Amino acid sequence: MEGVISSITYHSEVELLTVLGIPGSLRRASLNRALLRAAVSLAPSGMTVEIADLCDIPPYNFDDEGAPPPSVVELKRRIRAADAILIATPEYNYSVPGVLKNAIDWAARPLGDSAWESKPVAVLGASVSSLGTSRAQYHLRQTLTALNCYTLNRPEALIGQADRKFDVAGNLTDEKTKELISQLLAALAAWTRKVR
Ligand code: FNR
Repeated sequence: MEGVISSITYHSEVELLTVLGIPGSLRRASLNRALLRAAVSLAPSGMTVEIADLCDIPPYNFDDEGAPPPSVVELKRRIRAADAILIATPEYNYSVPGVLKNAIDWAARPLGDSAWESKPVAVLGASVSSLGTSRAQYHLRQTLTALNCYTLNRPEALIGQADRKFDVAGNLTDEKTKELISQLLAALAAWTRKVR
């Protein structure tokens, strides 16, 4: 009996994903920006993470919507260009810091020209308290619902007592937190490929 040799071609093509990380803090030593730096190096194969900066975003003003500041135009361009967004929010007085909410609002305007429409988003956050920005993250998720984002539900990344989880240079040293961020990014990759 003649043998049959089967030939299988494997396709190694992976759909590359670009993720824009948005830190909700302007502070140079921000723990939340440090989380995003960790995400850059923990990104799985096929995903790259870039980090935006909100330092140049002015307070939102309806009167400027017709000619928005260049920093806002650029932020909207980067949100649109990204396959998914990763927001690292601090918690200020049980909610989202004003600078982050302000940038989110700018990028949602003018009406009908939101950069957020149908965008896959994951959230994480670090605080020195044990609750790890849980209250801010739930406020943020509410806002993302208003913007019709596809927000990833799990894993939740509530990183408490974060001041003990980085070295003096701002490098993430806590292995459990590294593992959690890796899981979050893997889930975001799967979610992004599923919903878009
Ligand atoms: C805080 N912080 C804080 N932490 C928290 O867990 N719950 C809170 O409600 C608040 N509220 C709050 C208000 C204001 C005005 C400030 C400045 C700070 C502490 C906060 O979690 C801590 O400063 C973080 O380090 C801020 O994040 P970045 O800047 O390190 O990313």
